[in-house]
Amino acid sequence: MRFASDNTSGAAPEIMAAVVKSNDGYDRSYGADAAMGRVTALVRKVFQAPQAVVHLVATGTAANALSIASHCPPWGAVFCHTHAHIAEDECGAPEFFSGAKLVLVPGDQGKMTPATLADALSRTGEGGVHGVQRGMLSLTNVTEAGTVYSPSEIKALTDLAKARGLPCHLDGARFANALVATGATPAEMTWQAGIDVLSLGGTKNGCLGVEGVVLFNPEKAWELELRRKRAGHLFSKNRFLAAQIEAYLTDGLWLRLAAQANAMGQRLASGLAAQGATVPDAPANMLFPLWSPGTHDRLEAAGAQFYRLFAPEGRERARLVTSWSTTAADVDAFLAALQP
Ligand SMILES: Cc1ncc(COP(=O)(O)O)c(C=O)c1O
Repeated sequence: MRFASDNTSGAAPEIMAAVVKSNDGYDRSYGADAAMGRVTALVRKVFQAPQAVVHLVATGTAANALSIASHCPPWGAVFCHTHAHIAEDECGAPEFFSGAKLVLVPGDQGKMTPATLADALSRTGEGGVHGVQRGMLSLTNVTEAGTVYSPSEIKALTDLAKARGLPCHLDGARFANALVATGATPAEMTWQAGIDVLSLGGTKNGCLGVEGVVLFNPEKAWELELRRKRAGHLFSKNRFLAAQIEAYLTDGLWLRLAAQANAMGQRLASGLAAQGATVPDAPANMLFPLWSPGTHDRLEAAGAQFYRLFAPEGRERARLVTSWSTTAADVDAFLAALQP
């Protein structure tokens, strides 16, 4: 009943096996390893993007901060949702690495809308030299509220940004979960929808610790490489990062792992609703149910782990996240413990 975060899961056996295998013998360092060449080829194939370039880092915060720093000038505004991970959970890393300012765009359930984004765009950069200029757009999918943008919703937002000449970033810490939830292809969810740079999550979905920065516009590749080194994220033994992503993207492993996480999320959502909890839209693996007072204590006494969140008067709210390793038995035990 470990539903605090998909980060509390271990690494998938296929990923561990790939890392162990890559430990054999010697290989070139700093990204010149043989596996990294295969990773680039795989990313290009999976994303149907023959020009794409990928750089590996160890955390999602680094992927986001470096993506933003390489696409937004220090006098720029990064338009992101009010509750974006880059705004609330990265200790200012995107601002530190880019020098840019985050401009928060509201919207229900973690999603900005064309209207809220258009409003923010129209109110920024109009003060001449005295204010920050419009810099770039950053979206998250799966969103921080557990909802999912469809490719057409992403396109509607990137169209507004592109009309102002702005590059667009997608924080895909849970990108595979978003693909499984929507049925979209990687290409449809990214460059075909106007995304220029993607933080491709691996860690939450069964990797040991690796994320990719995927650049669909290779013009920024060298800058990103220099910034990664300067940020201390160029690993000498890059082969261990590359081995993880190679196994992850091979034969659809990443989608199988995400499909399990999402299926368990949906099993949890319907079981919760059947017991009278309110479950806001949660098509992937992250749920924010509301239930009656006393439920938190009862679940924790039974050994369940989750985050307690602020809730309206007379209610309790939790954050529940399923992962690739969540089983039906975990979910059913939780649902049994939920019963008064
Ligand atoms: C939406 C989102 N983006 C990025 C991250 C990456 O975080 P980390 O730097 O902990 O790997 C997370 C992790 O919680 C996340 O939820």
